[in-house]
Amino acid sequence: MTDTATAPAVRDSSGDDIVLSAKGLVVEYPVPGKKPVRAVHGIDIELRRGETLGLVGESGCGKSSTGRALVMLPPPTEGEVMLGDLRLDGLTQKQLRKHRKELQLIFQDPISSLNPRRTALEIVMEPLTFLKHPKPKERALELLQEVGVDSAMAKRKPHQLSGGQCQRVSIARGVAQQPSVIICDEPVSALDVSVQAQVLNLLERMKDEHDLSLVFISHDLAVVKNISDRVAVMYLGRIVELAGSEDIYQHPRHHYTALLLSSIPQPNRPEKLQDVANEGEIATSPAPSSGCPFASRCPAATEICRTVMPPLAELAPGHRVACHHPIPVEAEPDLRSAS
Ligand SMILES: Nc1ncnc2c1ncn2[C@@H]1O[C@H](COP(=O)(O)OP(=O)(O)O)[C@@H](O)[C@H]1O
Ligand SMILES: [Mg+2]
Repeated sequence: MTDTATAPAVRDSSGDDIVLSAKGLVVEYPVPGKKPVRAVHGIDIELRRGETLGLVGESGCGKSSTGRALVMLPPPTEGEVMLGDLRLDGLTQKQLRKHRKELQLIFQDPISSLNPRRTALEIVMEPLTFLKHPKPKERALELLQEVGVDSAMAKRKPHQLSGGQCQRVSIARGVAQQPSVIICDEPVSALDVSVQAQVLNLLERMKDEHDLSLVFISHDLAVVKNISDRVAVMYLGRIVELAGSEDIYQHPRHHYTALLLSSIPQPNRPEKLQDVANEGEIATSPAPSSGCPFASRCPAATEICRTVMPPLAELAPGHRVACHHPIPVEAEPDLRSAS
């Protein structure tokens, strides 16, 4: 096991440089007097260096649990997490602390995720001071400037800033630690639509300028589409489809992905389609013990779907689908031009 501060390069079979990966990731929450709730059912995930990997699915499908387990906050119940060639699971808290800065988390609620008693400047300075930066104040002001928070705003506390400004401060604080990975958990979901695009643009710019790799979590496929290089679709604690962003939007192969896509509002589409993203209670209902978890909602389900769990198989290069009856590419309706 190496003990370096930055994640060294690890390449997968296709030659991609993998910065963070997990195998057989399981997250369970204890429930007093009952069996624990299994939020994540043994998923494999790989984040390539420099990419933005979108993680989408309905509320309650396990996105946040996955994101937090990837950064060991808290560590997964089962499974292996690798930062470069460093195995994170199994490290003691003390050992982990040395690598914490490499993995940053940005949360949905920007105001409450920041220390209410500190100013924006102090919030960004804190990790720099901890990491013994020679000029923490100067560097913090520089970073705040970079994210669009001027020196007057830097004197304010979170409740004196807007949600968008707080999210900018969170981003500056995360970047201050020179991480290799930032997990962004619904980073714009609590923001006004007009502010969302600005914060997304900022994240993309920071990713490029600071050599970051991002996991971008959202229940909103429309938001993920623009920012992600690849997209993983989660359903009831499992990844059901994983492909390049364009590919998944042009040719969804899983019936659940197609359903999610059909819920993106289309200006030219006459009929009002059901907003599946809001059907939280369906996504949190217990998964069947055998078979495909989507079978009960799937238009293509047959007997095998109710009894045999489909593996996440590579149907085309870089396109993985867990489905016994994947949507054929030719038959896929073009949702973007439907009128
Ligand atoms: N701290 C917790 N204790 C018990 N159950 C939890 C806890 N956090 C999440 N869960 C459950 O785990 C499942 C996945 O939750 P979560 O990862 O937050 O999903 P998402 O981020 O996709 O909305 C849900 O059923 C949720 O109720
Ligand atoms: Mg969540």
